[in-house]
Amino acid sequence: MPRLFCIKPLSLLQEEASEEGEHTLKRSLGALNLITLGIGAIIGAGIFVLTGQAAALHAGPAVALSFVLAGITCTFAGLCYAEFASMIPIAGSAYTYGYATLGELVAWIIGWDLVLEYAFGAATVAAGWSGYFNSLLQQLHIYLPPRFTATPGTVLVFFHNQWIALASLPPGTSIAGLPQVTAIFNLVAVVAILVITAILVIGIKESANFNSAIVVVKLGIVGVFLVIGVYFLLHHPHLAWSNWHPYFPPPDGHGNFGLRGIATGAASIFFAYIGFDAVSTAAQEAKHPQKDMPRGILGSLVVCTLLYILVSTVLTGLVNYKLLNVADPVARGIDATGISWGSLLVKIGAVFGLATVMLVMLLGQSRVFFSMSRDGLLPEWASKIHPRFRTPWISTIIVGVIVAFLPGFLPVGRLAELVNIGTLLAFAIVCAGVWVLRVRHPHLERPFRTPMVPLVPILGIVTAVYLMLNLPLLTWTVMFCWLLIGLVIYFGYSTRHSKVRKLLDAEQGD
Ligand code: ALA
Repeated sequence: MPRLFCIKPLSLLQEEASEEGEHTLKRSLGALNLITLGIGAIIGAGIFVLTGQAAALHAGPAVALSFVLAGITCTFAGLCYAEFASMIPIAGSAYTYGYATLGELVAWIIGWDLVLEYAFGAATVAAGWSGYFNSLLQQLHIYLPPRFTATPGTVLVFFHNQWIALASLPPGTSIAGLPQVTAIFNLVAVVAILVITAILVIGIKESANFNSAIVVVKLGIVGVFLVIGVYFLLHHPHLAWSNWHPYFPPPDGHGNFGLRGIATGAASIFFAYIGFDAVSTAAQEAKHPQKDMPRGILGSLVVCTLLYILVSTVLTGLVNYKLLNVADPVARGIDATGISWGSLLVKIGAVFGLATVMLVMLLGQSRVFFSMSRDGLLPEWASKIHPRFRTPWISTIIVGVIVAFLPGFLPVGRLAELVNIGTLLAFAIVCAGVWVLRVRHPHLERPFRTPMVPLVPILGIVTAVYLMLNLPLLTWTVMFCWLLIGLVIYFGYSTRHSKVRKLLDAEQGD
């Protein structure tokens, strides 16, 4: 029984972190690379799609305050991640931190749970990406076979020269005489994930450069939106005034609008912040992890929080919140300014922007499996490094192939909720871990210290659990089933191959 909670010694972790040689990952990322890695993971489907839905359905113009609330929740977790990432700069992120503080079983649970965040996260974004990509192609009059562009069972209709989901037609639209097809497979999403997987196999530095280039494009387009939007609103203050009033629309009795709607909105746009923790999965590839990990995590979080608050404020000023429940709210916002090339630009930005989110999520997933395999909790092939590219190529390919098929078959909404619950659970455990380690090993060297411990970790746990409680029962059930499958693997395989256990057994034998 005590073996279930055996702890990976910090000395061993720090030794692994300082290893060099051809079986290790290449240390090539600086602070700026890490911040762009974070921004690459964070800005995606959340801002490009969910902002509009959160405004229209939950918070109204006060959606900007939902972003503040969710940003605060993530800041508590981010401060805790930063302490761990500077102390234990090892690829496994929350999984490794759990192993060093709360024991092997908890570490396994986090590692397995992170699959929900990274693998399912990449799958969710791939589904969103395919929607934007298809819409962009159609705007350019290029038509892919519609049957292969959406989740099986989605009914698509040909409306105003575009194949769009029947469910997204404006209410009351007559579909008589419109061509219709039912999708059988989302091939577009599959291909997207496979291409990103290939890039990841070729190399982390190459991936980081690809990511940095795209982050510049993504930030540029968000910037263009803000400049055009602010300029327009300054010249049409009456429009902004009428759209921002009432700032808190009246409550609907189901937790939406009014002050309560801010929290409901925060739970729904939490997805928009997911990704800053992915920076910590690249710790072993950072040149100066002690200094640069906190900068990467907190820097990307701060930049994105500010952008989200600005974008949501400008968007709800340009378009009335009631009209924002659409697949491309940011494009809708720029359309309202009368600039005709705007929506094309936003779609291009979304296509590139969502691609980097997939990249960082898949990177995170393969690095977590890499660490678990190094510890003997997963088979050895998962940590095999490619002799030339120096990347964990087998786990990257296996993860990529499995993830590629998820959005092909599973509905996006369910995927996203699973991502949220999995991530929030990891956040809560990481916050608890920081606190536990401060109590158990108060004198360890901590290049970055989370301020106000235990207050910040406690607030991190409370806010994460609060947001989890806002998710549906079905999501909780699926999460428990997922964790159960993980436990079967843990007791069937990992307990017999764990290197930490073997080390402890050997020490006892001496
Ligand atoms: N934060 C990422 C997104 O919004 C997951 O797409």
